[in-house]
Amino acid sequence: MIHPLRGMKDILFDESRRFLHILSVATETAKRYGYGYIETPILEETTLFKRSVGDSSDIVNKEMYRFIDKGEHDVCMRPEGTAGVVRAFISAKLDRQPGKYRFYYHGPMFRYERPQKGRLREFHQFGCESFGEASVYEDFTLIAMVNEILQTLGIDATLKINSLGCEACMPPYREKLSGFLEAHRADLCEDCQRRIETNPIRTLDCKNAHCQTVLQEAPKLNANLCASCQEDMQKLQALLKQADIDFEIDPHLVRGLDYYNKTAFEFTSDALGAQSAVAGGGRYDKLVSYLDGKATPAVGFALGIERLMALVELPESVREGYYVGAMCDEAIDTALQLTMKLRQKAKTSFEYTSKGFKSHMKAADKAQARYVLLIGEKELEEKSVWLKDLQAQEERTVSLEELEDLG
Ligand code: HAM
Repeated sequence: MIHPLRGMKDILFDESRRFLHILSVATETAKRYGYGYIETPILEETTLFKRSVGDSSDIVNKEMYRFIDKGEHDVCMRPEGTAGVVRAFISAKLDRQPGKYRFYYHGPMFRYERPQKGRLREFHQFGCESFGEASVYEDFTLIAMVNEILQTLGIDATLKINSLGCEACMPPYREKLSGFLEAHRADLCEDCQRRIETNPIRTLDCKNAHCQTVLQEAPKLNANLCASCQEDMQKLQALLKQADIDFEIDPHLVRGLDYYNKTAFEFTSDALGAQSAVAGGGRYDKLVSYLDGKATPAVGFALGIERLMALVELPESVREGYYVGAMCDEAIDTALQLTMKLRQKAKTSFEYTSKGFKSHMKAADKAQARYVLLIGEKELEEKSVWLKDLQAQEERTVSLEELEDLG
């Protein structure tokens, strides 16, 4: 028997209902916030991710599904959605047509991580990317959107925010932090020792408990912001308070992708265990120009659908549509014709073989139908149908014509 690859999953039955429910809530919300759908390829040039997610990030360094295709191109299955959307934004020359562009997307992402609870190698994201709006009001609006999606889904999550500064305040902070790390090199884990050279900021969210103790004394990012970044951070907090959205400031929240500046945020849930982030995002004002486009401010987020699936309560399933059954072989064709008509109105189940009353009722219940319609010898003769409303628990015999008006 052939199984799915490690860290990859089939999604069916209740799971697929959860999946679609999340997608539909997220999509409806994003549309109300003015987002339009974008679809980008799953396979992209490897360079795209190296230049956006970052050469020194774990995602690019260790986790890419990367190969050389038959045309000798170095390609990669997307580990996340932002890079492809930014590439598409530049490919469509939208960076040359000033304006506000807002896109939402969803689909599979691939990271060759060590699979564990909540961590897959193929997982699905729903994401939004907003281009052309530099105001911190947009950062707030995106956070409010994620908050609304989670609330609609009935998911309790904690919002953590931080500012990663800008090109004015980040470089001097990085220097300061490097100095501190250098002085404590011997106390740091191997990964963090390497990060001193490659990306010192990433030491801040190292999972190693010993590193975390050392880093408690490290200079804090939020104490080293320039006036403009500080002002934005203050404004964001004021807007969140005004909207009654609870948050924590996490000075060690740096995110696993290198393209962020200013606002970074994550929603986490205690009910998930170690892999607790259900959504993450932030501002990335430099990314369009890193990828050779005209500098355009941008901000976005993505939510992890599988992680939300573990938390979401499915709405109570309601009976809907029809179940049509033939009680004798002669009635099968008439039942099929009735089915074809009803299918234009609502979900209709039909079985190609005739059956007894009890097995039809069982099958109708399993199909979660609201109305059961059965045709036997008597009904065939009278051009009628036996009908039961399973919700109201009422039954009667109706003529085939009358059925046309059934609600
Ligand atoms: P990310 O934080 O890497 O951000 O991923 C977003 C969400 O995807 C996470 O919060 C988590 O729920 C889910 N996720 C990530 N890795 C896995 C995994 N291995 N298994 C299951 N779920 C996972 C991004 O990808 C950015 N592109 C978000 C963004 C959009 N920033 C700006 N715009």
